[in-house]
Amino acid sequence: MTQTLRTLSGTPVSTLTFGTMQFGGAADEAASRAMYDAARAAGVTHFDTAVGYTDGASETLTGIFARPEREEVFLATKVAFDGGAGRANIRAQFDTSRRQLGIDWVDLLYIHRWDGDTPSEETFSTLAEMQDQGLIRHIGVSNYAAWQVMKAQSIARTLGTRIDAIQPMYSLVKRQAEVEIFPMAQDQGISVHAYSPLGGGLLTGKYARGEVGRLTESEMYRQRYDTDWMRRAAQALTDLAAELGTHPATLAVAWTAAHPAQPSPIISARSVAQLAPSLAAQGYAMTPDLYARLSALGPAPPPATDRLEEA
Ligand SMILES: NC(=O)c1ccc[n+]([C@@H]2O[C@H](COP(=O)([O-])OP(=O)(O)OC[C@H]3O[C@@H](n4cnc5c(N)ncnc54)[C@H](OP(=O)(O)O)[C@@H]3O)[C@@H](O)[C@H]2O)c1
Repeated sequence: MTQTLRTLSGTPVSTLTFGTMQFGGAADEAASRAMYDAARAAGVTHFDTAVGYTDGASETLTGIFARPEREEVFLATKVAFDGGAGRANIRAQFDTSRRQLGIDWVDLLYIHRWDGDTPSEETFSTLAEMQDQGLIRHIGVSNYAAWQVMKAQSIARTLGTRIDAIQPMYSLVKRQAEVEIFPMAQDQGISVHAYSPLGGGLLTGKYARGEVGRLTESEMYRQRYDTDWMRRAAQALTDLAAELGTHPATLAVAWTAAHPAQPSPIISARSVAQLAPSLAAQGYAMTPDLYARLSALGPAPPPATDRLEEA
């Protein structure tokens, strides 16, 4: 049974998560407020940020918007992308998070990435202690391989707690999570929150039209998504969306959510106009035939073991 995350008031979290990584960056305060309100109006209750996003502005704005309805929304943040996952760094970064958010506790705290130099016992005993102190309701990890999650899970169990949520990258053009991470999450009942469901914007189809955005602005995103086969997949997605009378972003987000592991796509944008097609994925009727057509737009990752001839 997959972990059902709930707001403090007891409502199961929305199927879509809204990522506030653009708040205070590509989206100024007014645009951020408008997106927060649009997400709330569409029923989104889960908001995702990190201590380092936009030098703290993301948490600051998320806190301003969420504070008046604190128990109705589910707030997730992340620490230890920089500085390692040791006790002192986790505690110091979480103190910064609380100050930026203007909120004492969060619903979910992720370790932002694996740290092979710090004993996992130290990382997860720190989080267990913070849970006991009422500072965090759930423990999560992001960008972990499946074996790293399971190592963390076995340690968490000895401490009387568990990993409740993971946050991998996942989209039509980044499907590695299907091989080990999703089956593990299903087996362990871990809630999955999939980041970059639009491939940083590639899957909106705008780059084929010569438009600008993150992929023209950031070398890291260019390296991640600007390959020939990914561009062809984005074009084919755009053609399919036109055939179906919908937006490619709607299809891309709906496809992400349709995996049997039930990933919650973490949607994001720089304006309400950009956000609309991603929000429209909520409730989009994904048939098995359409799911198969979308899945065929790019290569499926190879299975986790090599004995393929008997499969
Ligand atoms: N755990 C991690 O390591 C990690 C890493 C990355 C993200 N995240 C989380 O996941 C969330 C989403 O990630 P993401 O922003 O990479 O998601 P994404 O959905 O792959 O990309 C969103 C970007 O696509 C572009 N876009 C969206 N809708 C559009 C539209 N209708 N037309 C044209 N362009 C559009 C915008 O960028 P441009 O306008 O710049 O093109 C927007 O910021 C983040 O906010 C964050 O919370 C986590």
